Amino acid sequence: MAREVVEFLRPEPRKRYLDGTLGGGGHAEQILIRSSPDGQVLGLDLDEEALASARQRLTGFGDRLATRQANFAAAGTILAEIGWWPVDGIVLDLGVSSYQLESRERGFSFRGTATLDMRMDRRQSLDAYQIVNTFPVSELERILREYGEEPQARRIALAIVSERKAQIIQTTEALAAIVARVKRRRERDHHPATQTFQALRIAVNQELENLQRFLQNGYELLESRGRLVIISFHSLEDRLVKTAFRKWQRECLCPPRTPVCRCGWSRKVKLLTARPICPSPGEVAANPRARSAKLRAVERL
Ligand SMILES: C[S@@+](CC[C@H](N)C(=O)[O-])C[C@H]1O[C@@H](n2cnc3c(N)ncnc32)[C@H](O)[C@@H]1O
Repeated sequence: MAREVVEFLRPEPRKRYLDGTLGGGGHAEQILIRSSPDGQVLGLDLDEEALASARQRLTGFGDRLATRQANFAAAGTILAEIGWWPVDGIVLDLGVSSYQLESRERGFSFRGTATLDMRMDRRQSLDAYQIVNTFPVSELERILREYGEEPQARRIALAIVSERKAQIIQTTEALAAIVARVKRRRERDHHPATQTFQALRIAVNQELENLQRFLQNGYELLESRGRLVIISFHSLEDRLVKTAFRKWQRECLCPPRTPVCRCGWSRKVKLLTARPICPSPGEVAANPRARSAKLRAVERL
């Protein structure tokens, strides 16, 4: 949704932008082009391979692009450190990149075989192997139900625990086979292990916690009239974004019918998307993974 991102951000020369999820650098590239000749982008990513490939792709922009291996939840600290706070626009394109999914050895995909890893940031110790082989059945079930919306969460969690008593579950292939045995009925449009892999990835990378941390006060990173665009890929993320944006645009947070306002809150943003923007049919045809994308945007007052 690069076109929609730049339509909302309206990049301009001399301004500074934060791409909190640099990935392959597609959004950053559009922002740099539209803000020529001297707009600047700080690109963050947890994944050092993503940063290296984006830097290579965007090398022609020279020092107009700065990068850091960092979590967007800590963007405020980083922007302050480099003297960029507040910025004129922010984009977050949540979740995993096609590049990560397609890099077999990273263990994000149920296709092929790889060690159960799924870490975006390979400096962190928690990986999918630990969750699958050591977490109690109740926690596995919660992860699969909450993050994967997997209707057979209990049965899959029990099957994982029973299997690992016999032998350690080492690979993505072994895990996908366990899930496929539990969910014997094949779904028409996706692999039976899709939701399990999504759930584990979200848990390993603490994706919802990071988004919640950013949404506590992310508007504070923006210059007046600066814009924030967030693209989410599943309902849990979208609900967090929708709820935060609605709160930020409220005049007051006192309970209804409170005679005198005591909350000290004031409206922070203008909502630019009453409903989420979804990708065009053409984009979904070209990239089926985009089908569940939802874009929401606000402007700082
Ligand atoms: C969907 S991709 C972004 C693609 C990018 N917009 C592009 O145009 O190529 C998401 C990227 O965000 C990164 N990521 C996910 N959560 C992050 C976080 N909390 N902080 C920093 N990067 C994160 C992932 O490693 C991945 O590279």
